[in-house]
Amino acid sequence: MKREEADILPLTGIMSGPGDDNPRIKAGYTFLGQFIDHDLTLDLTSLLEQQVDPMATTKFRTPALELDSLYGRGPGAQPALYDKDRFGRFLLNPEGNDLQRNAQGTALISEHRNDENRIVSQLHLLFLKFHNAVLDTLAVGADDQQKFEDAQRLVRWHYQWIVLNEFLPRTVGGDFMSEVLESTDPHHIGPAYMPVEFSGATYRFGHSQIRPGYAINDTEGAPLFPANPAAPPGNDLRGGRDFGGTLVVDWKHFFGEAPPAAGGAAVVQQSKKIDTKLSGPLLNLPNSVVPPTDLARSLAERNLKRGLRLRLPAGETIADYLGIERVPEAVVWEELPANAGLTPLWFYILKEAEVLHHGHHLGGVGAAVVAQTFANVVLADKASYLNNVPNWTPDLAVGGKFTMADLANFTLGTSIPNETLDFGPAAPARP
Ligand code: HEM
Repeated sequence: MKREEADILPLTGIMSGPGDDNPRIKAGYTFLGQFIDHDLTLDLTSLLEQQVDPMATTKFRTPALELDSLYGRGPGAQPALYDKDRFGRFLLNPEGNDLQRNAQGTALISEHRNDENRIVSQLHLLFLKFHNAVLDTLAVGADDQQKFEDAQRLVRWHYQWIVLNEFLPRTVGGDFMSEVLESTDPHHIGPAYMPVEFSGATYRFGHSQIRPGYAINDTEGAPLFPANPAAPPGNDLRGGRDFGGTLVVDWKHFFGEAPPAAGGAAVVQQSKKIDTKLSGPLLNLPNSVVPPTDLARSLAERNLKRGLRLRLPAGETIADYLGIERVPEAVVWEELPANAGLTPLWFYILKEAEVLHHGHHLGGVGAAVVAQTFANVVLADKASYLNNVPNWTPDLAVGGKFTMADLANFTLGTSIPNETLDFGPAAPARP
């Protein structure tokens, strides 16, 4: 049965809720997930457009973990991103605590979506600084262009390592990610390709991890977005503006395992569980994210409509195709039994994570599509570390591992304690 908007939009009504914390995933990985998305996907079509061509929206960026979102087309072709006086270094704002911006506050970066909120823009800044710090470790006197390319390769490989060894094991399960990588034959995957089921639905799982607000550093915190979409700039985390040195992210609140602060509160915040509940600010997106003329202001509504317009298969259809057991209809539609039937893919994979793994990580169809897409992307990339030095361990590894906490510590000189990287057994299914 073909689903129409009228069948599925009632789902948006049950998707609002505070949601629980996810003990397995720290809050920083939500924004690392968004940053990775912006490295891989770019769909510039508006929801207002009548119909979109699924084949044309699968990828407007190169489908590789290569950080074109940072590097653009390089110092020669995009000199505005780089420091004119010190070849190959990224240019930051004069204080070094923000992206460089024009007089109106617009960030001068290669990927405008990385300034969509304060936290992802500070993460972009962390990666720019990481590149500069890596460049500083390379031999003085080496040819400038060569030095830039060496630093770029090292940054890309350390980033790929984090995606494959930290981000994805947390998101889909460590053993499952290893199985998928081991069972993917690099000789049979063809050119890199981004399935529309990934960008149009499954990789949008991250929307359910977003908190309504964040502690940013020891003294400052803010709601993600204001209640009024048209509110003038205020104490919230909307991007696209100069924060004048305020709300500078301290990464110990986002990664690692800092001991509790005085009074016993945990310093580091958790992401929200991967489930069918979205935080309030996402259900009335600000004008900085969605143009004022666009009436679809709820991210839940946008994702569901996007799935329809892309004609994505239902979750159950993909489950059958992959030979994965379906989540029973009565469970998927427990809150809306009158609408039961085949389920929009995005809602289905959120429900799957909730039912199969208590919302701690993706399962079933969601885990399969996400893990396989990343495995294909990395194995199809001739320049990836897996295709060049398969047993490579990061040059900057600490005890054989390299995590986001290590990346921040190396770059900023902080000392964020690492979490144990033992992801433990997959959380049991819901009784
Ligand atoms: C504050 C955080 C975030 C906000 C405000 C946000 C907002 C949005 C919006 C408005 C869209 C376009 C929806 C449409 O019209 O179809 C979108 C697309 C998307 N988002 Fe997010 N998002 C956030 C975080 C994330 C995270 C954490 C992930 C994944 C881990 C993610 C994955 C995606 C993907 C895959 C798309 C489709 C991209 C494309 O095809 O170009 N987002 N997001």
